Order: sequence, then C-alpha cells, then structure tokens
Amino acid sequence: MTTIAIVGAGPGLGAAVARRFGAEGFSIGLLSRSQERADGLAAQLVGEGLQAQGFAADVRDPAGLARTLERVTEALGPIEVLQYSPLPQKDFMRPVLETTPADLIGPVEFSIYGPVAAAHQVIPGMRALGDDRGSILFVNGGTALVPRAHLTGTSIAFAGETAYAQLLHEVLGEEGIHVAQLVIGGSIEAGHPEKDPAKLAEVLWDLHRARDRFRVEVATG
Ligand SMILES: NC(=O)c1ccc[n+]([C@@H]2O[C@H](COP(=O)([O-])OP(=O)(O)OC[C@H]3O[C@@H](n4cnc5c(N)ncnc54)[C@H](OP(=O)(O)O)[C@@H]3O)[C@@H](O)[C@H]2O)c1
Repeated sequence: MTTIAIVGAGPGLGAAVARRFGAEGFSIGLLSRSQERADGLAAQLVGEGLQAQGFAADVRDPAGLARTLERVTEALGPIEVLQYSPLPQKDFMRPVLETTPADLIGPVEFSIYGPVAAAHQVIPGMRALGDDRGSILFVNGGTALVPRAHLTGTSIAFAGETAYAQLLHEVLGEEGIHVAQLVIGGSIEAGHPEKDPAKLAEVLWDLHRARDRFRVEVATG
C-alpha cells in the first residue's frame, strides 16, 4: 500500500484527488484545520471502499504541520505523494494599496512556510522509497503566474511558492523525486470541461505518473 497526503483536503479538489489516487490503490491522508471535516470526508471515502483517514493541521503552523505529516506516515505508511492544496483565505486578497506588512503574514505563512515545512518533512521518506516513486504536487490559482492588484496577498505569496516549487523540481529531479505544479485560472467548477474537480484530479494523477513536466496550466489564458 502506498500513501498520498493531501494538505488542504476539502469536498472539492481534495476529495476528487483522493478518489483518483484511491482508485490506483493509494491510502489517503486528508489534512485540514478541522478534524471533524477531515473525518467526515474520510468516512465518505471509506464508505466507497477506499482507505482514508482524517488529520487536523493548520498549514500556518509549520511545526504542527510537520508533526501531523509524521503521524500520517505512522498511521498509513510512507508518503509517496504530497499534494499541497489548501484553499487560501479570502482576507489574503486585498487591494495592493491597502496591503500592509501585517496583511502579508498570513499569505506568506500559508503559501511559503507551509510548503517548505511539508516538503522538508516528506523528502527523507521519499528518498527511502527509491527512484521515480515520490512526487510533490503544488496546486495554485492563476495569480501564481500573473499577479493581480486586487489579490495582493496571494499574488505575492503564490509567487514565492512557485519559485520554491521550481527550485525543488530542479534539485529533487536529480534524485528521482518529481515536483510539479498545477495552476488553475479562475474558479474550480463542477461540470466544467477542464475545471471540474475530477478533471483536475486526472491532471494531477498524470503529473505523478508521467513525471515529464513541471507545470500544467488549466484555463489560465
Ligand atoms: N476553489 C477554486 O475556485 C480554486 C481556483 C483556483 C485554484 N484553486 C486551488 O485549488 C486548491 C483548493 O481546491 P478546492 O477549492 O476544491 O478546495 P477543497 O479541496 O474543497 O478544500 C480545501 C481545504 O483546505 C483547507 N484549508 C484551508 N485553510 C487551511 C489551513 N490554514 N490549514 C489546513 N487546511 C486548510 C479547508 O479545510 P478546513 O477549513 O477544515 O481547514 C478546505 O476544505 C488550492 O490549491 C487552491 O489554490 C482553487
């Protein structure tokens, strides 16, 4: 059995990715701030015949996030795939001229310290799994590539996350660990030909399986 940890797993993309990887035999660690919501999603997936467990973690607490990922490994086995996809808070998205240093603390904790803490925690286990097994998948909105003046916190912090992901891709690729990014323009929409959660989950599965690209952009043009 092999494990995916979904950091920021809710009823949209998180659930769809859990089902897609679950169909391939992965056990699934679902991380979100609310133990109750994570357990609720895990119970649904278990009801569908998948192996899933919920874990409470706030990505804005790097030490707590690392401890929780360690608990995922203890409960479900070595993490082969880490997906970093928590849904950013609305209050990160303020107009640029109204944004103060204090307003950037949350976005930077969320999109830079969180990814660094999560990657540091899982990389040793991925190395131990051996070549061409482990993947780290980052999911972002379109401001990861094109900053927008009314979405300042996420624009600035996603740019940092994007740079970190690209650096990891370069360095870990040499060790057979694949690092990739999915960038989604606009909103995730059920029933949309490209942005339905199940379609996006298929893209993430393919990034892990094919290991041939750093980035896929969906509806960013
Ligand atoms: N939704 C969109 O329209 C959209 C558009 C473009 C890109 N994206 C990207 O898609 C991913 C999210 O997909 P989704 O919107 O379908 O979400 P989802 O998988 O349905 O849920 C994401 C979960 O993230 C959790 N979360 C939020 N803040 C957190 C924190 N501080 N620590 C830990 N968990 C946290 C929330 O659960 P708790 O409240 O329990 O913490 C939420 O349920 C993100 O990477 C986002 O950048 C989304």
